[in-house]
Amino acid sequence: MALPKVAIDTEILWNTPVGSDVYELTVQGGGIVTQAQPGQFIHLQIPSGDVFLRRPFGIADTDENEGQLTMYYRVMGKGTRVLTALKRGDVVNCLGPLGHGFSLNAKRPLLVGGGMGLAPLLYLAKRFRGKADVLMGGRNRDELFWEKIFAPYVRKTFVATDDGSLGTKGFTTELLPKVLGNEAYDCVYTCGPEIMMRGIANIAAQKGVACQVSLEKRMACGLGACLSCVCDTANEERKKICKDGPVFWAQDVFFAQ
Ligand SMILES: Cc1cc2nc3c(=O)[nH]c(=O)nc-3n(C[C@H](O)[C@H](O)[C@H](O)COP(=O)(O)OP(=O)(O)OC[C@H]3O[C@@H](n4cnc5c(N)ncnc54)[C@H](O)[C@@H]3O)c2cc1C
Ligand code: FES
Repeated sequence: MALPKVAIDTEILWNTPVGSDVYELTVQGGGIVTQAQPGQFIHLQIPSGDVFLRRPFGIADTDENEGQLTMYYRVMGKGTRVLTALKRGDVVNCLGPLGHGFSLNAKRPLLVGGGMGLAPLLYLAKRFRGKADVLMGGRNRDELFWEKIFAPYVRKTFVATDDGSLGTKGFTTELLPKVLGNEAYDCVYTCGPEIMMRGIANIAAQKGVACQVSLEKRMACGLGACLSCVCDTANEERKKICKDGPVFWAQDVFFAQ
């Protein structure tokens, strides 16, 4: 039976810059931590009178022993700018864990992330306990501070940057056929810009490898009540990304049936 979603006041343990305009935020996560699954997200109340709606962030890590929950956020606008000023001991209200996460059945998983899409994949990598490889893409070396963060949890790391300042020059979609050709991966898990995920899902389909994608859309309630996050699916059914996703099988949302 699904447990009720909880909105709780969480205390900030640290809120530290880890890359250009990217912060790691760890809170004392209470009951959210024990329920969280990779691919789920939390909906954060921005502690500011003029930011009304909560903001969604993928769960990037949990520590059940310590009751800690970690997310990574890029400063995009008003809400995330307010977050940068939070310090140890401040309190933020968190609703979660929300949505449906990734399937954990793969025996040889490949994670493919672009930019901030790597945040939820980190939690997935950790859950696969060293079975997964990761292919990461970003604009440049500075964006791929992720390489060190993933290192303890993955077997192999493949890197692509737009400007060639780290790894192979080009997009993850250019590197993927080679990576898939070298190992018998049984599932590709991808999160990042939609255009990237569509490319990744197409290549996985051509190679006959299953693929899950984590979709993003602006959200209001996060609970399936307001319809602001609805997306079209392959069979023209409409799905709520917050409740039915954010993780979907690629063929259900990207490929016409
Ligand atoms: C399920 C889910 C998980 C997410 N996980 C993460 C995460 O782990 N780390 C992270 O940094 N971000 C994540 N995001 C995106 C994050 O929620 C937005 O960047 C954030 O809400 C922006 O808030 P803001 O008030 O700073 O920006 P706003 O002032 O609201 O907007 C600033 C700019 O960001 C754009 N924007 C806002 N929300 C989104 C969105 N959902 N998708 C695309 N563009 C958006 C706006 O169009 C605008 O151009 C996630 C989004 C979803 C739906
Ligand atoms: S955000 Fe309200 S239905 Fe998804």
